[in-house]
Amino acid sequence: MPGLVALPPVAPPARRPLSIALPRRRRILAALPCRCRCGRRHLLGASSAAALLPLIAPPSRAAPHIDPDVMLERVHPSRPDWYEEFYATALDKGMKSYEAEIAGYKAKLFSQLTATRKNILELGVGTGPNFKYYANGDWVNVVGVDPNRHMEDYARAAAVSAGLPPSNFMFKRGVAEALPAEDNSMDVVIGTLVLCSVSNTDMALREINRVLKPGGLYLFIEHVAAPDGTILRFVQGALDPLQQFVADGCHLTRKTGENIRDVGFSSLSLDSVRLSNAYIISPHVYGVACK
Ligand SMILES: C[S@@+](CC[C@H](N)C(=O)[O-])C[C@H]1O[C@@H](n2cnc3c(N)ncnc32)[C@H](O)[C@@H]1O
Repeated sequence: MPGLVALPPVAPPARRPLSIALPRRRRILAALPCRCRCGRRHLLGASSAAALLPLIAPPSRAAPHIDPDVMLERVHPSRPDWYEEFYATALDKGMKSYEAEIAGYKAKLFSQLTATRKNILELGVGTGPNFKYYANGDWVNVVGVDPNRHMEDYARAAAVSAGLPPSNFMFKRGVAEALPAEDNSMDVVIGTLVLCSVSNTDMALREINRVLKPGGLYLFIEHVAAPDGTILRFVQGALDPLQQFVADGCHLTRKTGENIRDVGFSSLSLDSVRLSNAYIISPHVYGVACK
């Protein structure tokens, strides 16, 4: 069936020995260089509910080198061309009311990016709806990663209309599970509505941590499972297979906030919100993690 692709199992990467496990107090201190311009520590959205969570997991390990093209074919082999084109067009046309409702949250989230953070990678960049919040000048270089080749034209157009010179934007066909970027090379990694679609969330998060420079930021907005026992959670469970079929592998029942918390970032600000325009893909978690 078009669009329904049985993904081959992905072997977990061999792990390198743990790096030095900082005592808890030093890990909190290590978060201090990640204060934003206003001097607060990544206080987001309805900030009364935001929490700076010192992490109990050990610092993250670098992932072993996996050829990004090999991983692309393993976890997201090309879908039929018509399907990829259809999905790109559907995203471009069908997300307008969602984008209008999430705009205030995105504006606050991306306002934390300063001009000193030049190298930015956006994974699952899609049609580029985030560029207008951060890619508006020639001081920033953006790499947009996405397995769907039909996203490129939309993303390029969005980058230009945001004010990013074409020479400062590069589209790379690839997947989050093996990002096409060097270790410690990015000031910022951005991902919105992506970890619902990757085949291996933990592997993608290890990759995000790998490519970030020390002190680099991961900005995210992801939809997650509703609380267990709610009607919405029941509906999400029932519709999950259909959603994966029609929305290119998107899962409705992931606990992505917990996955992000378990990675081992030195600090994490994480909040949640329910959006009226996104009933079935609600709630969302959003925030900033600092490597
Ligand atoms: C729901 S769309 C979100 C696009 C965009 N980030 C946004 O906020 O509108 C999910 C995107 O993730 C991409 N994607 C799917 N599997 C992926 C993977 N394994 N790694 C990276 N991106 C992936 C899809 O092609 C699609 O562009």
